[in-house]
Amino acid sequence: KPYSRIIGTGSYLPPRRVTNADLVADLAARGVETSDEWIVERTGIRARHFAEADVVSSDLGLEAARQALQAAGLQAQDIDLIIVATSTPDMVFPSTASILQHKLGAHGCPAFDVQAVCSGFIYALTVADAMIRAGTATRALVVGSEIFSRLLNFQDRTTCVLFGDGAGAVVLEASDEPGILSTDIHADGKHVDILCVPGHVSGGQVTGLPLLTMDGQAVFKLAVGLLEGAARATLNKAGLTEADIDWLIPHQANIRIMQSTARKLKMGMDKVVVTVQEHGNTSAASIPLALDHAVRAGQVQKGQTLLLEGVGGGFTWGAVLLKF
Ligand code: ACO
Repeated sequence: KPYSRIIGTGSYLPPRRVTNADLVADLAARGVETSDEWIVERTGIRARHFAEADVVSSDLGLEAARQALQAAGLQAQDIDLIIVATSTPDMVFPSTASILQHKLGAHGCPAFDVQAVCSGFIYALTVADAMIRAGTATRALVVGSEIFSRLLNFQDRTTCVLFGDGAGAVVLEASDEPGILSTDIHADGKHVDILCVPGHVSGGQVTGLPLLTMDGQAVFKLAVGLLEGAARATLNKAGLTEADIDWLIPHQANIRIMQSTARKLKMGMDKVVVTVQEHGNTSAASIPLALDHAVRAGQVQKGQTLLLEGVGGGFTWGAVLLKF
C-alpha cells in the first residue's frame, strides 16, 4: 500500500493541574518572582500539568496509547511497530518504547525511541510513515510522551514557567488512500547550546547540569523562519498551497511563535489548533496532544488537510502534511 494514514488518536495529562497562580505562589516561596500577567502575555500559558514523582514517561504514554488503540478499534497485539518520541525517557536505557510495549502487553514488534526534543513527534511520524511505505510495518503506534517538569530549574523564571507534562499518541496504518502527503525534517547541531540539558551520567554520577537551559530570544528568532521553511517544503512536495490547509497544528511552545508562523503562512488563528494555554510546552507530546484534543472536540474532521510542525533542541525542526 502506497500511503500511511492516521486511524486513531489519544492523549493523556497527569491529573495535577498547576495554574499560573499556583506556580507563582510556589516560586515566590523559593524567592523567585514572576506573575500570571507576565506568563500569559509572553507565552499564552495559563496552566500546565505536572506528573507525580512516581510516574514515568511510559506511564503517560501508556494511557495515550490505549486511547489511540481504542479509537482505531485495535488491540496492542495488532501493532507491528512502536516509536516513542521523548527527551525524558524512563531510563538511560532501554528505550521507553520497549518499556511501553511491555506495559501494553505486546511483544515481538520493533520498538525504539526517537530523540529530537520538541520536534520528536514530527521525526517519529516521519520515520513511521517511511517504514510503512517501505513495507517494513503495517500498523505503527507513534507516541510523544514527556515529563519536562523533572528537567526544570525552578530558580530560573525564564524557563520554569514554560513547560508541562503529558502524552499523545496516534495509530498509523498502511493505506491505499492518503494519508501522510509529505514530510520534511532537519537538524543543525551548531545551535546545541541555545536549548539543552547539558548533564550526562558518568561513573555513577551526573556530570554537568541536569536541568534545562535556554536562550529564549535566540530560540524564538530561529524558530519562526525555520517553521515557515519546513511548512512550505511539505506544501511544495505535495503540490498544495497554504490555502489548502484546514488546520495548522503547531508544536505548542508559545502563542507568539504560533501567531508569527500563522501570519507567515497567511493563515488566520481560527485555523490554528491552540492548547498551550492549558498544557504549556509539553515538548514531543504537544502536537499529538493538540491533535487529539482537536479531534475529540470535533474541530478536526476526517478528510481535512492538516499541517503539523515543530522546532526544538538540536536545533531540530520539521513538518508533516497529511489528510486526516
Ligand atoms: N516572570 C517575570 N519576568 C520574567 C520572567 C518571568 N517568568 N522571565 C523573564 N522575565 C524578565 C526577564 O528577566 C527580563 O527582564 P529585564 O528586562 O529586567 O532583564 C524581561 O522579563 C524580558 O525577558 P526576555 O527574555 O527578553 O523576554 P521575552 O519577551 O523574550 O520572552 C520567552 C521570553 C517567553 C522565553 C521568549 O523568549 C520565548 O518565547 N522564546 C521562545 C522559546 C520557547 O518557547 N522555547 C520553548 C522551548 S523550544 C521549543 O519548544 C521550540
